[in-house]
Amino acid sequence: MDVVKTRWYKDTFVYQIYPRSFYDSNGDGMGDIKGIIQKLDYLKELGIGAVWLSPCYKSPNADNGYDISDYRDIMDEFGTLEDWKEMVDGMHKRGIKLIMDLVVNHTSDEHEWFIKSRSSVDNPYRDYYIWRKGKGKGGKRPPNNWTSRFGGSAWEYDEATGEWYLHLFNKKQPDLNWDNPKVRKEVVDIVKYWLDLGCDGFRCDVINYIGKADGLPNGLHLPAMRGDEHFTCHEKMHGYLHQLNKDAFSKYDIMTVGEGPGVNIKEGLLMTAEDREELDTVFHFEHVESDMILRLIPKKRMNLPKLKKIFTRWQDAMRGKSWNSLYYENHDQFRSLGRFTGDYGQLRTEAAKMLAISIYFQQGTPYVYQGQEIGMTNYPFKDWEDFDDVLAKTVYGIVEKLPKVIQNYALKVMIKRARDHARTPMQWSSDTNAGFTKGATPWLSINPNYKQINVEQAMQDKDSIWHFYKKLIAYRKGNEIIKQGTYLESYPKHKDLYCYERGYNGEVLVVVCNFKNKEVDFTLPSHISFYTNKLIFHNYNYDRANLESMRLRPYEAMVFHLNAKD
Ligand code: GLC
Ligand code: CA
Repeated sequence: MDVVKTRWYKDTFVYQIYPRSFYDSNGDGMGDIKGIIQKLDYLKELGIGAVWLSPCYKSPNADNGYDISDYRDIMDEFGTLEDWKEMVDGMHKRGIKLIMDLVVNHTSDEHEWFIKSRSSVDNPYRDYYIWRKGKGKGGKRPPNNWTSRFGGSAWEYDEATGEWYLHLFNKKQPDLNWDNPKVRKEVVDIVKYWLDLGCDGFRCDVINYIGKADGLPNGLHLPAMRGDEHFTCHEKMHGYLHQLNKDAFSKYDIMTVGEGPGVNIKEGLLMTAEDREELDTVFHFEHVESDMILRLIPKKRMNLPKLKKIFTRWQDAMRGKSWNSLYYENHDQFRSLGRFTGDYGQLRTEAAKMLAISIYFQQGTPYVYQGQEIGMTNYPFKDWEDFDDVLAKTVYGIVEKLPKVIQNYALKVMIKRARDHARTPMQWSSDTNAGFTKGATPWLSINPNYKQINVEQAMQDKDSIWHFYKKLIAYRKGNEIIKQGTYLESYPKHKDLYCYERGYNGEVLVVVCNFKNKEVDFTLPSHISFYTNKLIFHNYNYDRANLESMRLRPYEAMVFHLNAKD
């Protein structure tokens, strides 16, 4: 019997577009919707089945669109609602679905609700946000000790009414008060508005932060994440999501994926188990925090056994109950090359293909972030002024007043993990500005390696990462072993190798990945026996050695298809 219910997103490869950096159609240096329209054939050729589009709504761009000032209209820089409609039509004509970004933990402080809310304590919109009196004499200290995820206090004092409002992100991103039924109704209406216009689902931004503990008690954690335990997956959130599902999501054939920083398996299952009717899937952060100290500071080296353990735990836990999301990259993460591979030297192509094999044969919906399909890499940032991101700027604002050693340390951390690494413009060709814009100045610097790493080159070279992705995406389509098969990991403690099998109806896929830039010996796990075996994916161009026992080259990765003996 099939272990999973049939839903379209279980057969769909999702491509994430960060619109600012995708393709600029009018030469102003910023990507836009018309730019996306011009690249729809590109997406179709790659073979993806859905696009997750980072926010394109009206926004003053304190956090590049994750601060929305009008939920029902398009950001001027990106185009118009008419352009958006043309884009969706173009996608649908090509068999591509559209997942919009739903940012409703907070709005922009320039949203009309907030403008009204801050105008007086008895304005009908006051209670749309989280206002409190301050502590101490004259209320001049914040209401509690929570910190913003970007750094500093999570509270901002507002002169007009002498009260403080909560912002878990930038002060231009005030948190909505989900305890207020009017707010919840607004969200239902926004969701229906876009679904009625033809979008096919939502990626729900920091959705596990929407429920805040009554009384907003002080947090215990270190300053960087203080308050977490009072708003990460609070039980109220489950109620709110269930209601949103009943009132809106469930009325359409869509997919939802919740962004869930701090979500563990237990919470992940509560948020997504089919019978709970909240969300379809979740992005947990465990693997992209497996190489971080305190979820913030990148370690020198990533620890493969730890990474594998996380993959395996989620594969096992979600089986038959829910559905995983498979990703290494997005607009908040630095690039996976280097990060999960260590220094790859001349082996960028092999390393990138290995990473693809390591994750995309797991069960779940796969995501590829723009540029990942050509192996784009981190940017050589050098100094604070190189960053655009509000996170980097906030951190700078804090450390600027501190001793030089701390400043230098913070800069070192930021150079490694800045979100801007993922946001440099897409490298389309070796032309000026990587073919991203015809204008003089892209909004963020283009990676100087664009002459070697670009789409045009990748599409011409049949051995490129791009062609490998295309083949993998095509292979995965409708593949029942990957969709339904069992998952079994071998050698979990091995420091260099990741090896797992997927099995379904007597067919087995054996996945073998060498994560290191060195040779590693591999022996086929003794429990595997087979009648026939065929190498179906390989990141090196040579006839393979014997499957039972081989010496893998640096980053060598293979997938075998076996007809198994029981
Ligand atoms: C999510 C987004 C990130 C944004 C934050 C606040 O984590 O992915 O880009 O800064 O939410 O909206
Ligand atoms: Ca533009």
